[in-house]
Amino acid sequence: KIYPVILSGGAGTRLWPLSRAVLPKQLLPLVSDKTMLQETALRVADWPELMAPVVVCGNEHRFLVAEQMREIGVAPLGILLEPSGRNTAPAVAAAAHFLMRMDPQAVMLVLPADHVIENRDAFAAAVARAAAMVEEGALATFGIVPQGPETGYGYIHRAGAVDGSDGCYQVDRFVEKPNRATALEFLRDGGYYWNSGMFLFKAERYLAELTVFCPEIAAASEASVRLGYSDLDFCRLHEDSFNACPSDSIDYAVMERTEHAVVVPADIGWSDVGSWSALWDVQKHDAEGNSQRGDVYLDGVSNSLVRAESRIVAVVGVQDLIVVETPDAVLVVHKDHVQRVKQVVDHLKLNE
Ligand code: GDD
Ligand code: MG
Repeated sequence: KIYPVILSGGAGTRLWPLSRAVLPKQLLPLVSDKTMLQETALRVADWPELMAPVVVCGNEHRFLVAEQMREIGVAPLGILLEPSGRNTAPAVAAAAHFLMRMDPQAVMLVLPADHVIENRDAFAAAVARAAAMVEEGALATFGIVPQGPETGYGYIHRAGAVDGSDGCYQVDRFVEKPNRATALEFLRDGGYYWNSGMFLFKAERYLAELTVFCPEIAAASEASVRLGYSDLDFCRLHEDSFNACPSDSIDYAVMERTEHAVVVPADIGWSDVGSWSALWDVQKHDAEGNSQRGDVYLDGVSNSLVRAESRIVAVVGVQDLIVVETPDAVLVVHKDHVQRVKQVVDHLKLNE
């Protein structure tokens, strides 16, 4: 049986000032009238092959998450509450231990809560292709054909085809977030995919690999589930145990090191909405290429994203701009420099 595991953590700082610690991007309606978390849960609802999802989120977001699930009529198998953010390796490990207690054969479909996937049928087909290899013990990643030398993604270099797999490959090498020169080399050499950050594997296989590479995370996450307690749909992970997990991503902790990774090429209209320009890309545009929301006045503006939350925003005679107004902060940034928004947040934190 396949269980979706929805990761709803992280702060999404590159979408400041809309995305904040109290209300991070996955809990906001960014692309449609549903929140990113709701879109993710609905995407995997009503597939005959899939069980109800497990959601992993920060303790402070428990009521928002539960409420958003109720709104769309999805009843999660459990909502695991992290006492603190320890990145994705511990979050996935806690979900794996949680599932193993119910179903030792559980297969996990790990899904970040903040991705856009335009072609759900193609995605379902990719999951089905992965499932066959996962039964044999593989850890499957979904590979996206790169569109540029992005440095915010993991890169997967494929090796030989997996026998009888219908276009899937062994992984020669997994490189998490290369620098720009390396990314350019990868594109020139060919045979590379972006790691989408979604995975399919048996819970037991993930934990076995984690035990080899990061035994501390494996042990601490196990204790956090064993000593945690359930109330309603929530499973509160045991605080001291979970906090004892070193912070690490699934990519560095396991995917870069395992010998059992395979890649399923996935042409599914994927975007991780990691920045304002990525959001502009996936939003609907008017004839001038503008995407606007709220009380906005535009004159002679093109290829821009303008969002007003609480006041009137007027923009005149510019192009390729991001303008985001919120009650307590305003961002104006050129589309080419959106990656630097993260530094704004770092700066503000320092001066807090
Ligand atoms: N529950 C929980 N707890 N979720 C978390 C935590 C955490 O502590 N940290 C991150 N997440 C969730 C976030 O919601 C995010 O969507 C997802 O896990 C991935 O974490 P990011 O921090 O966004 O990772 P990344 O974007 O830097 O890199 C990953 O995703 C890329 C694709 O978007 C890697 O897997 C890359 O290899 C990949 O290319
Ligand atoms: Mg991300």
